[in-house]
Amino acid sequence: MINKMGLENDIQYVLISEERIKARVRELGEQISRDYAGKNPLLVCILRGACVFFTDLARNITDYMEMDFMAVSSYNDGMTSHGIVRIKKDLDTSIEGRHVIIVEDIMDSGNTLDNLTRLLGTRNPASMRIACLLDKPERRAEGIGISPDYCGFTVPNEFVVGYGLDYADAYRNLPYIGVLKPEVYTNVE
Ligand code: IMP
Ligand code: MG
Repeated sequence: MINKMGLENDIQYVLISEERIKARVRELGEQISRDYAGKNPLLVCILRGACVFFTDLARNITDYMEMDFMAVSSYNDGMTSHGIVRIKKDLDTSIEGRHVIIVEDIMDSGNTLDNLTRLLGTRNPASMRIACLLDKPERRAEGIGISPDYCGFTVPNEFVVGYGLDYADAYRNLPYIGVLKPEVYTNVE
């Protein structure tokens, strides 16, 4: 996986620059600060993809807020119309009566967030919204009725990496969102 030519060399082109991300995340933070003034929202980071977006977003929220972290994997068992979400790491905080903002890297098919909002909904939060850095609406699975309440950027149907998003666990540390060179996928060692 490690390419001796270097990390940046695997990137075909930069889709969203560091500067654009910074400006947009600041706007989202300002919007959330206004919408949740006095509500002490609980921001839930969905590990690992959302970690970079989450910490930058939090630093742009100018009122009281709390953080918690969750790791999930989502799959469809083929038996039900909706998939199953498996909790790999649960929240430490009770969300009952709390204003919850789920922070995710990207909404693709939408299955993960659809399953997760169903699950967290059973814990009786006062409210629950979704903040996604990226939305890829072209990929949405049939029957998914949710979309991000706060969305950084809508992206085309391309596999993107950087700013938390990975391919085979690499590229999360790139400061921008980029598209990988096709040979990175096809050069399986
Ligand atoms: P969904 O359940 O199909 O919406 O998928 C959500 C998860 O798939 C995201 O949290 C990402 O971890 C991963 N994913 C989807 N599209 C991409 C992409 O373009 N790059 C990196 N990860 C992606
Ligand atoms: Mg993810």
